[in-house]
Amino acid sequence: MKNIKAIIFDAYGTLFDVNSAAEKSKDKIGDKWEGFANYWRTTQLEYTWLRSLMNRHKDFWQVTEDSLDKSMKAFKIDPSMRNELLHLYKILSTFPEVKEVLQNLKKKDYKLAILSNGTPALLNELVTSNDLDNIFDDIFSIEEAGIYKPDSKVYDLPIKKYQIKKDEVAFLSANTWDVSGGGNYGYSSIWVNRNNNIFDNLDYKPKNEVKNLKQLLDIA
Ligand code: LAC
Repeated sequence: MKNIKAIIFDAYGTLFDVNSAAEKSKDKIGDKWEGFANYWRTTQLEYTWLRSLMNRHKDFWQVTEDSLDKSMKAFKIDPSMRNELLHLYKILSTFPEVKEVLQNLKKKDYKLAILSNGTPALLNELVTSNDLDNIFDDIFSIEEAGIYKPDSKVYDLPIKKYQIKKDEVAFLSANTWDVSGGGNYGYSSIWVNRNNNIFDNLDYKPKNEVKNLKQLLDIA
């Protein structure tokens, strides 16, 4: 982390637990909640990539609703659950260590930011509902670039604002494809490998791998 000037976090899946919406409704959804949550997330991401390739952008909230509708049909979830699931998605929980780690990093001399597919309104609500106000110097949304990750215009946003070198950014994501996207762009990417997964073969191997964000404090 010697040259690092900014620590930039992906949001969904890295700071905020995307499965927590379905998990909070698991009494109503039953045992299939986890399969459903994974299907929803996978469909949502596929829609971001496909919309970028088709040049038919819709914002992340629309994509989240569209992917939810397909997933509810696929898993035969009662339509009356739709509003509850969408509401819970707006206030996703953080992973347990997140707040303490961010508060610690805040005391150090780095820029701290989020760089995410989410809209500015969604990201602000996630930050506020999890009591993380005043932690981040910036919340960068892909809406400013008009295209989803991993387009390089997205990873350009913090570089343009901070006027620093690409490898002076430590970029943390739990999404392997986002680690590859940021890494291929030139960031020093760190993979948050919470579930002991296998990394991708996409021309980039992360500079570091941590099991959770707490391990970041050992190197930051
Ligand atoms: C995001 C998605 C990749 O927050 O999780 O950008």
